[in-house]
Amino acid sequence: MTAQKNMEDIVSVAKRRGFIYPGSDVYGGLSGTWDYGPLGVALKRNIMQLWWAMFVDERDDMFGVDAAILMNQKVWQASGHVDTFVDPLVEDLETKQRFRADHLLKDAGFEVDGLSLEQLTALIRDNNVKSPAGNTLSEVRTFNMMFTTTVGPVANDAAISYLRPETAQGIFTNYKNVVDTFYPDLPFGLAQQGKAFRNEISPRDFIFRSREFEQMEIEYFVDPAKWEGSFEHWRQQVWKWTRALGLSDDTVHELEVPEEDRAHYSKRTIDFEYDFPIGREELLGLAYRTDFDLGNIQRVSGKNMEYTVKGTNEKFVPHVIEPSFGVERALMAVLTAAYTEDEVNGEKRIVMKFPEHLAPVKFAVSPLVRNKPELVAKAREVYDLLKKKYGAVMWDDNGNIGKRYRRQDEIGTPHCVVVDFDTLETDGLVSVRDRDTTEQRRVKPEEL
Ligand code: GAP
Repeated sequence: MTAQKNMEDIVSVAKRRGFIYPGSDVYGGLSGTWDYGPLGVALKRNIMQLWWAMFVDERDDMFGVDAAILMNQKVWQASGHVDTFVDPLVEDLETKQRFRADHLLKDAGFEVDGLSLEQLTALIRDNNVKSPAGNTLSEVRTFNMMFTTTVGPVANDAAISYLRPETAQGIFTNYKNVVDTFYPDLPFGLAQQGKAFRNEISPRDFIFRSREFEQMEIEYFVDPAKWEGSFEHWRQQVWKWTRALGLSDDTVHELEVPEEDRAHYSKRTIDFEYDFPIGREELLGLAYRTDFDLGNIQRVSGKNMEYTVKGTNEKFVPHVIEPSFGVERALMAVLTAAYTEDEVNGEKRIVMKFPEHLAPVKFAVSPLVRNKPELVAKAREVYDLLKKKYGAVMWDDNGNIGKRYRRQDEIGTPHCVVVDFDTLETDGLVSVRDRDTTEQRRVKPEEL
């Protein structure tokens, strides 16, 4: 169903209505970066707060952390990112433009999963695959996706650091701190939300593949003998999450990732895919990271990462189940699911049917007309009442009432409240219009 929704229509509403703008637009943009406008930031925060409520606040076994983005370079050496966080890169020999070899080949209709660099090069050569400009391509080589920077005034090797490509490592480096200060029972998890950066060779498809994005990650520490039960627990939690985002079950799909396609640290991965307008693509991942990360930290730092089981004093390095959620992909899925075109009184309308708990604006309040001071004063009173109660309330007296409804439908406001002459002269009731059914009813302002 969502495949029939058009990406351009969604991008157009997102820009026109102040959700998402291209980054640095005024200077011609910066590829792979996006800025959030007033409604976009509200929607994004609602998604992130929902996640924190579900996976941290409502549970007894979860702890939140917020680690620095810049970390000691040893983190990325130990984690394997310096050596293996790479994508296959190919260059147009004329224009010197660079592309992801696997994307070029996929777009040309080839199956590329699990192929080595040599096999990708051979596929390009044997089938005479050209760059989008029609030029010959170089052989395929690897490209490390981490952004490098130097910390401090001296630019030598010891000063090298990276913008983190995943938030996970900031959790692993704090595992011992939390164990030593909170003494949690196993299994327990640490959760973090924050920016991640990847120098994607070809950022594309709106916010789907960005160079700067946000992750919401959980590292759930378990007894190695019991990892399967926890993996299944988190599989179910992911479904709870996709439902809370308002994504119908038939648009979300599990993909058991074969060994050759799994990240270097994973013994089992399920990708949760969503039917985006660009096709079925990864929404989030669930991985069994074993003791790969804590084991590496122990080896490289020389610090003991073992957990001591209370009562038995049994010691082991815990294993890890990692549900890893991308904020932009969640947001793009929410925009896709919400985008609806229908007809009201013979007129086409665009309406964003966000679940109420995610809608950036919950109520819009208007006086029927704006040149009657007593109507405006009463509407302001209702607005103040709702604003105090819900916060996300908009005053909207621009244009006629029909135009206001269309505008509020496009930003997904579930309820439009109108103060009219009957409010003042007869019953004190206001009219409330439902976004999805367009039905109106009259209620006391205090009952809203
Ligand atoms: N710590 C594990 C990890 O980072 P990943 O599959 O590379 O795993 C996790 O990334 C999630 O982060 C993805 O499922 C996706 O939602 C999001 N993500 C990854 N790269 C992204 C990009 N370039 N733009 C937007 N979101 C991205």
